[in-house]
Amino acid sequence: MGSRTVDLEEGSKSASSPDQRLKSTSESSCLSIVVLGASGDLAKKKTFPALFNLYHQGFLQPKDVYIFGYARTQLSDDGLRDRIRGYLKTGKADSEKEPSEVVSDFLSLVAYVSGSYDSEEGFINLDKKITEHEHSKSGSEGPSRRLFYLALPPSVYPIVCKMIRNYCMNQRGWTRVIVEKPFGKDLDSSEALSNQLGKLFTEEQIYRIDHYLGKELVQNLLVVRFANRLFLPLWNRDNIDNVQIVFREDFGVDGRGGYFDEYGIIRDIIQNHLLQVLCLISMEKPVSLTPEHIRDEKVKVLQSVLPIRPEDVVIGQYEGYTEDPTVSKDSNTPTFATVVLRIHNERWEGVPFILKAGKALNSRKAEIRVQFKDVPGDIFRCNKHGRNEFVIRLQPSEAMYMKLTVKQPGLEMSTTQSELDLSYRQRYQGIVIPEAYERLILDTIRGDQQHFVRRDELKAAWEIFTPLLNDIDNGEIKSCTYKRGSRGPEEADKLLARVGYEQTHGYVWIPPSLQVD
Ligand code: BG6
Repeated sequence: MGSRTVDLEEGSKSASSPDQRLKSTSESSCLSIVVLGASGDLAKKKTFPALFNLYHQGFLQPKDVYIFGYARTQLSDDGLRDRIRGYLKTGKADSEKEPSEVVSDFLSLVAYVSGSYDSEEGFINLDKKITEHEHSKSGSEGPSRRLFYLALPPSVYPIVCKMIRNYCMNQRGWTRVIVEKPFGKDLDSSEALSNQLGKLFTEEQIYRIDHYLGKELVQNLLVVRFANRLFLPLWNRDNIDNVQIVFREDFGVDGRGGYFDEYGIIRDIIQNHLLQVLCLISMEKPVSLTPEHIRDEKVKVLQSVLPIRPEDVVIGQYEGYTEDPTVSKDSNTPTFATVVLRIHNERWEGVPFILKAGKALNSRKAEIRVQFKDVPGDIFRCNKHGRNEFVIRLQPSEAMYMKLTVKQPGLEMSTTQSELDLSYRQRYQGIVIPEAYERLILDTIRGDQQHFVRRDELKAAWEIFTPLLNDIDNGEIKSCTYKRGSRGPEEADKLLARVGYEQTHGYVWIPPSLQVD
């Protein structure tokens, strides 16, 4: 069976103005979305619900779109529909229809094709189904769009991409492929994967998802930094003492031990999600908002990160982790890590960037904490209350707040710590914040790669972490133990203090939604 000739030319250079973007989404050519790995967990919990939300909000038009699930399991169309129905929740946009009717309408646009990931027959059959759909929508000549979402383990990316490239490329419009981490385990394996995919698709056709880039407050970082005069002169080593980017989860690896034990918290969270946030916090102003200009700046700042020093790392493992039957008994895999990165450039020389992530801790949240230096020549003894901090709460309770020292209201001239608070739930009542996956799938349809990881970015990220990961994998750096439900290992707090972070005692930010009058 011969493979088809395809034009690798992508065509869509990401649209930048809102008008253009709107136009490119509403362009009415037939759209086929193929979810590979359709019977798996990611597809069920994230991909189909995101597609459903897009449909429900009118971004996927029934007259244009059809969704194909592909996987090895033998299932009928209804079998797939039944599997995903329970994960589709309405209530996001006003609708005159009953929720169950909206779900049924969406499911009528979903079909299932069964086949293995290395089967020519399976992909030829898939192509046939897509082509039939295209013919029915736009005749035999009209334009069409094909989006392949790989909700699959990366081990099958190369073969699946080869099959798509050989048998399912679009002859009359674009073909785009969404892939998600882990992209390899270290620099070499990641580069090998990039080379394999790079032979099959152009960079413009590959959309590497890091779902943190789809979060509302992460997307706000560039706006806040570069659209506010206030921050421009402050955002540097002269004023900022240290920056923390923190991810905490209050549950362990329950049910995912097999995957997690092989990767650990640095590969799972820090090398990708937190490092992407670091880029947006620390990069220079891009020439413009085009995806390439933004990603050029991200690469530059990643390349300025100095090699990680062993004394700037603490790794931990929660008690009971190795009792999980899917985890190896003598595992040294970290479920917690604090890693201090240092950026060697004019803006950030000497400022520690503390990346901290942990599972089975005492709370669930993700936030960025920019801590400013002490007030010089302080006449109010402000510093005794704690330093100014600008906190960006990514989740839950999205917010940005600035910790300030102010006069304690009353007759005395005393000071206290308070905050300027932009809490989203209070300020933007009635606005639903979209899920990260929704946004990123929509961006893919629009051809906007701004919030996706470029190949050189990925390489630079692995260059930073691979030596450290090798040391951990070789047992040269050992995990310390911490209790489930704790703050993590004490050693991590000591490291924070050593690099200059000053914890504010006696001050707690309470999201306005939890405040009582
Ligand atoms: C995933 C990790 O990428 O992100 C998980 O593999 C983690 O281990 C998850 O739980 C966290 O995502 P979120 O959006 O809930 O912060």
